[in-house]
Amino acid sequence: MTVHAVNHPLIQHKLTILRNKETSTKKFRELTSEITLLLTYEATRNLPLQEVEIETPMCPMKSKRLVNEGLVIAPILRAGLGMVEGMLSIFPAARLAHIGLKRDEETALPHSYYFNIPNHLEKSTVIVVDPMLATAGSLCAAIDYVKKYSPAKVLALCLIASPEGAARVEKDHPDVDVFVAAMDERLDERAYIIPGLGDAGDRMFGTG
Ligand code: PRP
Ligand code: URA
Repeated sequence: MTVHAVNHPLIQHKLTILRNKETSTKKFRELTSEITLLLTYEATRNLPLQEVEIETPMCPMKSKRLVNEGLVIAPILRAGLGMVEGMLSIFPAARLAHIGLKRDEETALPHSYYFNIPNHLEKSTVIVVDPMLATAGSLCAAIDYVKKYSPAKVLALCLIASPEGAARVEKDHPDVDVFVAAMDERLDERAYIIPGLGDAGDRMFGTG
C-alpha cells in the first residue's frame, strides 16, 4: 500500500470547509496551507535522523537531527503552489522544483509546459505536492520527471484522491509513498473527483 489516507480529525474538519462551494478563495488558500502542514507532519514521520553531539546550558549530550536536510518541495503548477507555504512553514530552508502540467479538458491527459528542478538531488527527498489526484496522469508524469534526477527518495502529498488515481500511482510508482487527506468515491465522465472540491486551481486563484 503506497497511498495513505491520513484520517486525523483536524484534517477532516478543515477538509469539510475546503470542499464547501461557499468557501471563499481567501479561506480556501488558508485551509490548503493548514491541511498541507498537517499532512507534512505525517508524511515526514520516517525521515532519517542522525545523532549529533551538542551542549545544552547544563551539560553535553547526544541528540538527533535530520540527516537529509536537502528537502525539495515540488509543486505541480498551478494548484500545487497553494501547498508550498504550508510545507515551508515546517521546512523553511527547502529548495523548490516547479513542474508545469496542464490537463487537456477533452482527453484529461497532462500537457507539460515547464520544468525546473535544483541540481544535486542524490541526498535529497523530493516531495511532490498537488491538491488533486484524479486520473493520476499529472502525478505520475511529475514523478517520472523527478526520478530522472535520481533523488534519494520521492514522496507525494495530495489533498483528495480518487480510487482510480490511487490504483494507478500504486501500480506505476510502488516505491513512492503518497499521503492524502481523503480518498473519495470515484471520477465522473470528465475525470473530476466526486464528491471532490471542484477545480482546485480555479478555487485557489479565483479563476474559472
Ligand atoms: C489539476 C490538479 C492536478 C490535475 C489532476 O490541475 O491540480 O494537477 O488536474 O488531474 P489528474 O490526476 O487527472 O492528472 P490542472 O491540470 O487543471 O491545472 P491547474 O492546476 O493549472 O488548474
Ligand atoms: N482537477 C481538479 O482540479 N479537480 C478534479 O476533480 C480533477 C482534476
